[in-house]
Amino acid sequence: MKITVAGTGYVGLITGVGLASQGHDVTCVDIIKEKVDKINSGITPIHEKDLPELLKKVLERGNFRATLNLKSAVKDSDITFICVGTPSREDGSINLQYVEDVSKGIGEAIKENGKYHIVVVKSTVIPGTTESVVTPILEKYSGKRAGVDFGIAMSPEFLREGKALEDFMHPDRVVIGTSDQKTFETLKDVLAFEQTHVIKTSLKSAEMIKYASNAFLATKISFINEIGNICKKLGIDSYEVAKAVGMDHRISPHFLRSGLGFGGSCLPKDVKALREKAKSIGYEPKLLDSVLEVNQFQREQMVKIAEEKLSNLNGKKIAVLGVAFKAYTDDIREAPAIDIIKMLLEKGANVFAYDSEALENARKIFGDKINYADSPGEALESADICLIVTEWPEFKNLDFSKMKNKIVIDGRNILENRNGIDYVGLCW
Ligand code: UDX
Repeated sequence: MKITVAGTGYVGLITGVGLASQGHDVTCVDIIKEKVDKINSGITPIHEKDLPELLKKVLERGNFRATLNLKSAVKDSDITFICVGTPSREDGSINLQYVEDVSKGIGEAIKENGKYHIVVVKSTVIPGTTESVVTPILEKYSGKRAGVDFGIAMSPEFLREGKALEDFMHPDRVVIGTSDQKTFETLKDVLAFEQTHVIKTSLKSAEMIKYASNAFLATKISFINEIGNICKKLGIDSYEVAKAVGMDHRISPHFLRSGLGFGGSCLPKDVKALREKAKSIGYEPKLLDSVLEVNQFQREQMVKIAEEKLSNLNGKKIAVLGVAFKAYTDDIREAPAIDIIKMLLEKGANVFAYDSEALENARKIFGDKINYADSPGEALESADICLIVTEWPEFKNLDFSKMKNKIVIDGRNILENRNGIDYVGLCW
């Protein structure tokens, strides 16, 4: 199949390279020339395991390329995936500007495409968007009718950063929202290239499945954090509790690690967008509000414990170990460390941050307001307190001997050598 992928962010690039690795002829489109040039020369603009090798392979094979020209790519292909970003507005609601812009361009191109072209929305969009925003734009600019002259579908992605290619190649399920059987059959062949569950739904349900999945994952984390906070007050190890709770097959052991909670480009954004949508249609989403509230509380709790330990943070040297929102990524979007560092700075602390991959990104936010250490040891030297924020494996065993006060607050339950220090678990 000839495939166009609009947008070369996380989802677009993984989808494009992944489909090219399956033998399809793929053209990825972006509006940023620098990104297109990078991709064509084999450099991935995102940090993702195995992606550089696979990108090189499909470029060499010649069935993958990037371009700025959306129109010529779509005109010449069978399927177009919309993978552009859907950022949050100030109030948390979804901004559809990029989806609308790209839909217009695709519509104009479909006008000149003689085949039964299929457009698939992969961007995370609020239920109803494909039907009431994307389809009318495509119809207006192509002069054609959806389901008659071209196919329309919505197929959400469930990719985890750091494991995105693995998730793309071996999905737990493939969801295809469409009312058009021909479109469904074609997409089933393209997306379900190995034995997996394929679920055919309406457009709206496919959109909601993505939000419900991410909202549930976020809820599970806030739930275990709340249990963890109660455990801590009762002197109970929440990890011992979670282990036994997770053995119930109805619950499962995943996403039961209590601590600093969730960050990243999806979970916070999607829960907020769903909450705002619910409010806009007259429903008060009490549970979603609480999920976000508990998540924020965990960050504040870490700073509160530090303040209690040192009585005053003003002028104190604080080692912050980990800035990335989780290990094995340099992504700091909505990372707990950002809020924590901001709170520390407000209290006059002298922050020394270290991260295995994300310091460059941290520098873009904090500039010279904080110090950047080249190693955990440098951050810990003469520090009054150490905060472990990200679960990087190198933080499992640390040398605290050069700290001023050997106080360590572990936000991820990762530290193994807890002897000879004042160890404080966030919720255990
Ligand atoms: C998530 C979803 O998993 C994925 O399906 C979706 O497509 C995008 O959002 P990702 O953002 O890569 O993926 O991160 P994930 O591995 O799911 O972790 C999210 C956050 O939750 C991280 O900050 C992580 O540290 C935190 N987390 C996860 C916990 O605090 N406890 C847990 O038990 C699990």
